[in-house]
Amino acid sequence: MANFNDKFLLSFEKDFNVNYPKINSVTYKSLVNYASDLDLPIQRWYRYKEGYSIKLVDQILTKYNVKQGDLIVDPFCGSGSTLLQAKINKCNSIGFEINHFSAFLAKVKTQDYKKQDVALFIKEIANLKKVKSKQKVNIPKLSTIEQLFDNDALLYLLTLKEKINQIKSKKVSDLLMLAWLSILEESSNYRKAGNGLKFRKTIKKTIRDQEYVKNLFFKSINDIQSDLNFAVEISGKVNTSVIEDTCFNLSKYTKKNSIKGVIFSPPYANCFDYTEIYKVELWMGSFVSEYSDLKILRKKGIRSHLNGYEIESKLAVESVPELGALVNKLSSKKLWDKRIPKMVEAYFNDMFRSMTEIYNGLKKGGFCVIIVSNSAYGGVIVPTDLLLAKFAKHLGFNVSSIEVARNIITSSQQYKETEKYRGYLRESIIYLEKN
Ligand SMILES: C[S@@+](CC[C@H](N)C(=O)[O-])C[C@H]1O[C@@H](n2cnc3c(N)ncnc32)[C@H](O)[C@@H]1O
Repeated sequence: MANFNDKFLLSFEKDFNVNYPKINSVTYKSLVNYASDLDLPIQRWYRYKEGYSIKLVDQILTKYNVKQGDLIVDPFCGSGSTLLQAKINKCNSIGFEINHFSAFLAKVKTQDYKKQDVALFIKEIANLKKVKSKQKVNIPKLSTIEQLFDNDALLYLLTLKEKINQIKSKKVSDLLMLAWLSILEESSNYRKAGNGLKFRKTIKKTIRDQEYVKNLFFKSINDIQSDLNFAVEISGKVNTSVIEDTCFNLSKYTKKNSIKGVIFSPPYANCFDYTEIYKVELWMGSFVSEYSDLKILRKKGIRSHLNGYEIESKLAVESVPELGALVNKLSSKKLWDKRIPKMVEAYFNDMFRSMTEIYNGLKKGGFCVIIVSNSAYGGVIVPTDLLLAKFAKHLGFNVSSIEVARNIITSSQQYKETEKYRGYLRESIIYLEKN
């Protein structure tokens, strides 16, 4: 079997039309990043760090001449960026998401609103301004909860939550709940960093007490209120649904050959565990109430992390032999965790399974655009963009191009180890068409 790195990657890449950005300023860089959406209505309601810009979705819809009423699907919809732009462009859309917290964001951002909802929303803000902390509230069972929040801030947050849950209008309480969820990270003594939560070093400088939380909450509400007229304007024109199920079940919810376009960014093969990174939102928002709930969620997701599993099929290595060579190469290395080669194989089994569902659901002439990052372990590149493209070709897709959006930064050790292969450490956009 070929040695995965030497010359192999290059010859592998020659199978596809890989385009590197020539000038830095014209890359897709800002569009594969959520940060550029922080001043856009509705998108700014929650900063979903793993999300992309709705401007990228708009470009893709335009490129493929998507018409009003066409069906767009996002099998990994996260916070709903694809669905929101599809709605703005008057396309029907369906998103799949297994994380209840993310699915909630996607749903609240894309559901229909009426003028009456706005009036009720404004009325409830006045009531919430009067809220005083209760001393007895239901505290989530997350073991680290007391380190995560200042006691005063925690009591205030949980009292607010109780009040929000008592609101009769479901749409209004959803909007307020989203505002509440959006400030949890900033209200706490931790921040999301890499694949987990890190305590803030600057904790002494900022006192995250009740007053601080209150200001954050009403600022977030203010943003939502300012955007609600736009939300009303785009309402009632198309169907948007968020399905809380794995995209492996896509064919249960969509007809064969019915989808015009699929746009998504899946989890990456980077040991990232979404249930870990969003655990505070999941517990605080009562999306999980026991550790067993968290475990169930983790099991449903694409296996991009190291939390124990078996390889149940040979789908991936049999379809794309290059993957077998890569897994062997990784197995021959001393890596920081010995489960990594298995994770890589399991990840591609899951991704190939998802792509088969997507291929079957697409119409002839339909398209699929995937935004994905490569990774590296022990100096070995995991060229996810090329492997997904190879599998797409195996399924019958035309791989039109792979556009490199930006280079990615790994740990300094990986950076040294992968010097020769730096061009492969990248985030790419894969363009596929079903002929
Ligand atoms: C990179 S994020 C998508 C972000 C999204 N494009 C946005 O802009 O908000 C990938 C998402 O896939 C979800 N996910 C993981 N496994 C899944 C599965 N089997 N089915 C559906 N969603 C899944 C994760 O919970 C995560 O929210």
